[in-house]
Amino acid sequence: MLTTDRQQTRASALGRYGPVAIGFHWIMAVLIVVVGVLGLLHDSWPKSTQKFWINIHALIGLLVWFLVMARLWWRITHVPPDLPPDVGEFSRRWSYPVHLLLYLLILVTPILGIVTFIWHGRVFNFGLFQVDFGVRSNRAIFHPTEDIHGYLAYTLLGLASLHALAALWHHFLRRDGVLQRMWPAPRTSREP
Ligand code: HEM
Ligand code: HEM
Repeated sequence: MLTTDRQQTRASALGRYGPVAIGFHWIMAVLIVVVGVLGLLHDSWPKSTQKFWINIHALIGLLVWFLVMARLWWRITHVPPDLPPDVGEFSRRWSYPVHLLLYLLILVTPILGIVTFIWHGRVFNFGLFQVDFGVRSNRAIFHPTEDIHGYLAYTLLGLASLHALAALWHHFLRRDGVLQRMWPAPRTSREP
């Protein structure tokens, strides 16, 4: 990543997120983009492969759901460092509610996906074994939940994009060390 010496020094002088929080953040960011793209593409697959791709979407979505619960537990038991002192009033006021909303969306969106999947009569295929809830397809349930799942997913992807733009703004324009707090540290400057 492009960093100036000034930014690097500032980031290590100020607190940074720990390696576990950083690992959770970047692994989940990639998984959420992948699951979101697979969801957006679900109408574009040929009919013969749709079942396969919806299953892949569901399995990665489930992984995201379990990871966010582990991540929230970690977050509650590990307080993140204070923001750098020269971060402006606007960012200071909004970063926490935006992060909270992101967590909420990551937690709730998969639940609606799971309901849609099961009440569509679909079966989770984990490769080595399958999980079939034996529920008969029920349009009155899966139709509205599919719509809500889609709206929540669009909100999550939209908010995450704004959040990423804000991080780039902090890095390239404000140069206040906010992005480095969440960036994997080079081995030499890693905290003990
Ligand atoms: C954070 C995680 C997730 C994201 C970002 C996400 C995103 C999306 C998106 C963007 C769509 C397309 C909506 C539309 O076309 O209007 C979709 C559809 C769908 N998702 Fe998810 N999803 C997630 C998790 C899950 C999970 C965990 C499941 C099930 C276990 C699931 C099951 C489904 C189903 C069944 C559909 C509708 C596809 C169909 O049957 O026609 N999703 N998802
Ligand atoms: C799907 C994509 C993403 C999601 C869902 C996401 C979610 C989050 C969440 C929930 C936090 C709060 C961490 C905490 O305090 O517990 C966070 C922090 C952060 N994220 Fe992301 N993020 C995403 C992508 C990105 C990208 C692409 C960037 C950089 C370009 C980025 C930069 C940051 C930074 C710098 C922080 C720390 C902010 C601070 O110091 O207060 N994120 N992210």
